[in-house]
Amino acid sequence: RPRVLSGIQPTAGSFHLGNYLGAVRQWVALQETHDAFYMVVDLHAITVPQDPAELRANTRLAAAQLLAAGLDPERCTLFVQSHVPEHAQLAWVMNCLTGFGEASRMTQFKDKSAKQGADRASVGLFTYPVLQVADILLYQANQVPVGEDQRQHIELTRDLAERFNGRFGQTFTVPEAYILRETAKIYDLQDPAVKMSKSASTPKGLINLLDEPRTTAKKVKSAVTDTDTVIRYDTEQKPGVSNLLTIYSTLTGTGIPELEQKYAGKGYGALKTDLAEVMVDFVTPFKERTQQYLDDPETLDSLLAKGAEKARAVAAETLAQTYDKVGFLPAK
Ligand code: TYM
Repeated sequence: RPRVLSGIQPTAGSFHLGNYLGAVRQWVALQETHDAFYMVVDLHAITVPQDPAELRANTRLAAAQLLAAGLDPERCTLFVQSHVPEHAQLAWVMNCLTGFGEASRMTQFKDKSAKQGADRASVGLFTYPVLQVADILLYQANQVPVGEDQRQHIELTRDLAERFNGRFGQTFTVPEAYILRETAKIYDLQDPAVKMSKSASTPKGLINLLDEPRTTAKKVKSAVTDTDTVIRYDTEQKPGVSNLLTIYSTLTGTGIPELEQKYAGKGYGALKTDLAEVMVDFVTPFKERTQQYLDDPETLDSLLAKGAEKARAVAAETLAQTYDKVGFLPAK
């Protein structure tokens, strides 16, 4: 079985619809066909200032949401990044292989550090992508299911894997990004020119999966479309409508041409009303299942402990090989 690995940050509490459609949904599907490793990346979460109690709560919350979304600990390895110390250890080796200029070109770092101000941004934020490289290489992953915004980090992973292999001999699998074209980038409902994200300019553009279903329905109904009335998939001329069609199509498994036909001659109102219902039917049980996992933190924690144990077995082997290749003296 080919192997997949991916991660999600616990920082923001509720996952948003972009996280789900762009990544987590694929994770659920891939556990059936792949040897799958998925993690909550708490080490990445401290690259920006965080509150300790919130981080701990959000880490459990993230794991609960992943289970609610359909990850099955019998079918995949689900764990918390900081439970596997090899991530930080391999990251150091990878840091020493990464060019300063190379790291400086990472666009997510540039965006995030610009927001914080260059003096406030941490060195951890700068080296964030290199930790992600270590995450992926530790598991010898063949594919990495993510949204479009992570593509550059996967490219860096490929470059560093090849560089290490070239210098020290074959050690790492060179992974590929697994990005589904249709859902690579889900857009903000109020500003379909930008991707949906927690830093949205208005909360109305962002669908949090744990919002009250009523709130979600309202946000869908007030999504920005255009002044025309025709329901047609056209990302250039009709980015708002196209985004709604993508969401609708993915959540229901109905093809976009079919949806275009269904709404031929009807207005945007009809589309939004129906999509609001589809969304409510999706988030209501999701929210309930998440709460059930949260209500039993002991089971959740022990499940994560088992996941970490499975992950560590793989990670430790890769790290030992790496340490050997770079010339560290083994501890006797
Ligand atoms: P994070 O936590 O920001 O996002 C989790 C996943 O959601 C995807 N995503 C989107 N997809 C489509 N449309 C959107 N609007 C949208 N917004 C977010 C992201 O692409 C991501 O796949 N650096 C990573 C976490 C990470 C990781 C890894 C991923 C750490 N180590 C190793 C893969 C492999 C991140 O911050 O994702």
